[in-house]
Amino acid sequence: MISVAIDGPAGAGKSTLARRLAADFGYIYVDTGAMFRTIGLYALRAGKEPKDNEAVDALLPNITLEFAFIEGEQHIYLNGEDVSTAIRTEEVGMAASAVGANPAVRAFLLEMQRDMAKTQNILMDGRDIGTVVLPNATVKIFLTASPEARATRRWKEYQQKGIDTPYEDVLADVKQRDYQDTHRAAAPLKQADDAVLLDTSELNFEQSFEAMKKIITEKVG
Ligand code: DC
Repeated sequence: MISVAIDGPAGAGKSTLARRLAADFGYIYVDTGAMFRTIGLYALRAGKEPKDNEAVDALLPNITLEFAFIEGEQHIYLNGEDVSTAIRTEEVGMAASAVGANPAVRAFLLEMQRDMAKTQNILMDGRDIGTVVLPNATVKIFLTASPEARATRRWKEYQQKGIDTPYEDVLADVKQRDYQDTHRAAAPLKQADDAVLLDTSELNFEQSFEAMKKIITEKVG
């Protein structure tokens, strides 16, 4: 089985690029951020503080996650409800970053993530895919961009969706999320030794896509 691990900070374009690449190569795209977001959403709905590990640990036995791949797109179900859209808010992103620091949450998701790579060619994106989840991945890419470039892209996405958030708030969120994701003890965001680094600060989508396609093709043939 071929596995492509794509890691990097929030807003580097991982999911958009990974989705397009998966379609291009005919692989399944697995968005692990969506799994952490779903647990974050559940904690918020239950009225729990996502940073409170004990409170979140107690919720895990009540959570069943399921996935369906419809036209190559991952849909995620929380206890039977399709939450693929509900998890896409900034608040849930922050909650995901908080529950991502919880070792029990990471353990809960790890086997699920590894199993998905056993039976199909996949492109998986996250923070610790190349370092922890799939250390033997066929290809590892660390995708990054400056905080300002990432905040600008996020801000534009929000504008397109009609969400009016000040740029400064988006930038502050990007920086806070970077800090949380890189400073946690459990599987922090970091580049795997054997990952190819790609900085897209100065690249547009097409250029980033072509650069990633080249990296993958060189390894996979
Ligand atoms: O990629 P994303 O923005 O959807 O991820 C949301 C948060 O989930 C991210 O800030 C940290 C956490 N996460 C993680 O800890 N490990 C992963 N493999 C993916 C996401």
